[in-house]
Amino acid sequence: MPLVPPYIASLRPYEAGRSIDEVRREYGLTRVAKLASNENPAGPSPLAIERMRHATAALHLYPNGGLDLRRELARQFDLSVENVIAGSGSEGIMANSIRAFLCDENEVLTTEAAFIGFQVLAKSRGVTYRTVPYKNWHYDLEALAAAINERTKIIYLANPNNPTGTIFTKHEFDRFYAHVPERVLIILDEAYFEYAKDNPRYPDSMHYRYDNVITLRTFSKVYGLAGVRIGYGFAHQELIANLLKVKLPFEPSTLAQEAGIGALADKEFLHRSLELNARGIRYLSESLLGLRYDVPASDTNFVMLPLASDQEATRVTENLLRAGIIVRRLSAFGLPHAIRISTGTDEENQAFVSALALS
Ligand SMILES: Cc1ncc(COP(=O)(O)O)c(C=O)c1O
Repeated sequence: MPLVPPYIASLRPYEAGRSIDEVRREYGLTRVAKLASNENPAGPSPLAIERMRHATAALHLYPNGGLDLRRELARQFDLSVENVIAGSGSEGIMANSIRAFLCDENEVLTTEAAFIGFQVLAKSRGVTYRTVPYKNWHYDLEALAAAINERTKIIYLANPNNPTGTIFTKHEFDRFYAHVPERVLIILDEAYFEYAKDNPRYPDSMHYRYDNVITLRTFSKVYGLAGVRIGYGFAHQELIANLLKVKLPFEPSTLAQEAGIGALADKEFLHRSLELNARGIRYLSESLLGLRYDVPASDTNFVMLPLASDQEATRVTENLLRAGIIVRRLSAFGLPHAIRISTGTDEENQAFVSALALS
C-alpha cells in the first residue's frame, strides 16, 4: 500500500494566478493589471472592513461557527437559520459537502472543464469523476440527465458558470431536475449570482427550492472579500445539519463572519461594483467581438476567450504579460486553447483591449 494514495499523487496542485509583484519584477513594469482571478477591481466593501476592525478587540475568543452570519442571512432571505451554513469561502462548503455525502463507490458528475476548485476537491476524494461536453459553451443539461447512473451521488452545476460565463434557465433546470433521483445531491454554485440576477432569463435558485439541492454563494466576488474567505449555502435543514457535523467547528473565522455581515449591509458598494462590472463586461464583450473574436455572452465578471490553439493561447498570454496584463490560462480547467479575462477598472479594461489588439 503506497504512502500517498494514487488519486492524490496524480493530482496537479492548484496553481494560483501570477501575482502583480511577481509580474512587475519579472517584466520590469511599473503598472500591472491583474485580470486573472475574477476579483473585484473596486477593492473590498468598506462596511466589511469597518466590521472587521471593530471585531479585532475580541480576537482572543474562539468564533461561534458562523452563527451570527447565518442568523443575518436567514433574516434577509426569510429562511430559518437551520437552512443556512457559512464557511471558509463557498469552496469550504463544497469541501464539506464532498466529505459529508460521498462514499467510496459513488460518482461525481458535471460538465467538462468545470470550475477548477470543484474539480480538485472532487478528484482528491478518489471517486469516479465523470463529465459531459459543453454544448455551445453551455451546460448540456439533457446530456447530464442522460449520464446519471445508479452510482451518481453529486452533480455539480455552476450558474452562472466559470469559466464560460454562461447561464441556464429555470425551464432547462426543471427538465433536467425531473431526471434526478432524490438520493443525488445537486451542488448549485451561484458564486456569480449578483452579476446575473437582473437578467430575466437567470433563475434565482431561492425561487425553486428542492430538498436535494444546496445553493452556494460567496462574498469573494462582488463584495470584494476573496482574501477573507467567507461564503454561504442554503439548503434543506437535514443537509445543513449533516454539513455542520463535518465542518471545522471554528470555521468561518471571526473576521470572516463579521466581514460577511458588513458586506450584506453595504448596498452602496454592491451597486457601485455592479455598475463598474456591467460597464466592463459590455466594453470587453463588444471590443472582443469588434476584434473578431468569438466570445460567449457572459453573466459574470469575466469573459472567456477561446483561441485558435494552445500555442496561440500561450502567445497571447505572454504578449499580454509583457504589456502588464495578467489573464488566466484555462489549461488546468481542461481548456488549453482558452483564456479568461476578469473585468478590471475602466482603465485596466482599455489597457487589455489595446494590448490584445497589438498582440
Ligand atoms: C464557480 C465558482 N465557485 C466558487 C468559487 C470560489 O469562491 P470562494 O472564494 O467563496 O471559495 C469561485 C471562485 O473563483 C468560482 O468561480
